Amino acid sequence: MRDGAVLVRDGTIIAAGARHQVARLSEARGARKLDLGGRVVLPGLVDSHTHLIFPGSRAAEYEQRIAGASYEKIARRGGGILSTVRALRRAKPEALKTKAIAALRQFAAHGTTTLEAKSGYGLDTRSELEILRLLSELHQEQAIDIQSTLLGAHVVPPEFRGHADDYVEFLAGELIPRVALSGLAGFCDVFCDRGAFTVAQARRVLTAGQACGLVPRLHAEQLARTGAARLAISLEAASADHLEKINSADIRALAASNVVATLLPGCSFHLGLRECAPARQLLDAGAVVALATDYNPGSSPTLSLPMIMSLACSQMRMSPAEAIAAVTINPAFSLRRHARIGSIEVGKYADLAVFDVEEYREIPYYFGVNYCVMTMKRGEIIYSRKEI
Ligand code: NIG
Ligand code: FE
Repeated sequence: MRDGAVLVRDGTIIAAGARHQVARLSEARGARKLDLGGRVVLPGLVDSHTHLIFPGSRAAEYEQRIAGASYEKIARRGGGILSTVRALRRAKPEALKTKAIAALRQFAAHGTTTLEAKSGYGLDTRSELEILRLLSELHQEQAIDIQSTLLGAHVVPPEFRGHADDYVEFLAGELIPRVALSGLAGFCDVFCDRGAFTVAQARRVLTAGQACGLVPRLHAEQLARTGAARLAISLEAASADHLEKINSADIRALAASNVVATLLPGCSFHLGLRECAPARQLLDAGAVVALATDYNPGSSPTLSLPMIMSLACSQMRMSPAEAIAAVTINPAFSLRRHARIGSIEVGKYADLAVFDVEEYREIPYYFGVNYCVMTMKRGEIIYSRKEI
C-alpha cells in the first residue's frame, strides 16, 4: 500500500490502511504522529530457526573448509557442533548472556522482532537447562520475543559416544519430561540427518516430546535424504527445516501438509555449496514456505533476515513478495503465533520494521548493506538509526 498509516494503542494495532482514512478516525485524534517519510514498512520480521546461545565462533573451521575440508569431515574429527559443546560447557552463563544480548541487538537492527531459539550446545541436563533458562531470562528482559526449542538431539555427546540409542532414551525418559515440566521450551527439535540421528531415533525423541506437550520441529534432509521430511509430516510437526535434499514426492507431500517448509539459504551460502533447497518447486506445489537465518557458529553465522531474503530471491528464484511472506506470516504460523504477529492487521502487536528504500522489492535487491532504519516491538521503538 502506498501512503499508508498504522494506528497503535497499548502496543496493539487498532487501525491500518490508507493514511487519510486512518487519520480521520476518532481514536487517531491526539495520537503522537511518527512520520516515516514514505519509507517501506513491513511487519516485524520473524526468524523461526536460530541457535541464539553459543560461545565464540568457528572461524578456524571456516578457514579449514575454504582449504577443502567438508562440514561433515570436520564433525567426524570431533570438531563442528561438538567443539561448540565443549566450549559452552566451560563458558560462564553471564558471558553467554552478554554475547546473546549483543546478537539480539543486531537482530533488532535488521528488523527482527520475534525469534525462535534452540538449545543444543549443552547436551547434558545441567547445560541444556542453563541455555533454556538464559533464553527465558532474555525473553523477559529484552524487547525481542523468544520462543524456545529443546534441541537435546543435536549430536551424540562425548559421554554417550557409540551409544546413540542410550542417549535417545536419556532424552525421552529424562531430559524431555524435565524440560516440559519446567515450561522452559514449547518445541522439541532433532538434527535428523546423516552423521546425526536416524529417523527412528528422531521419532522416539519427538513423540516423547509430544507426549508432554512439546510441539515437534525437525532439522531434515540437509546432508542426505533420510526420510526426515516424511517423519515431520506424519507427526504433524510445526516445521521441517533445511530440505536441500528432498525429492519431488517429498515436495508433493509437504505441499499437502500444514508443515512449514523452512529454508535456510545462509547454510548453502556460508558452506560454499551450490545446492539450495527447491524453493520454487515447493512454492509452485503450494507448500507453506518460511525463510530463517539458522544463526549458528558452524553453518550460518548471520542474523540478517534481509540478507537471507536476498539469497532466497537471487539463488532460489523466490519473488520478493514470496520472500516477505516467508519472513513474516509463514514463520509466525510455524511458531503458532500467527494470531498476534506476522502481519500488519488490527488486533496484532505493533511489531514493525522500517526500511529506507523506495519500494519493497528493493529490500532483497540490495544485499550486504543494512537498510533497516527503525524497528518497533509492541509499539516501542527498539532500534532507530539517527537520520530517521
Ligand atoms: O542448522 N545442522 C545442525 N545444526 C546447525 C548447525 C550447527 C553447528 O554447526 O554448530 C544447522 O545447520
Ligand atoms: Fe539449525
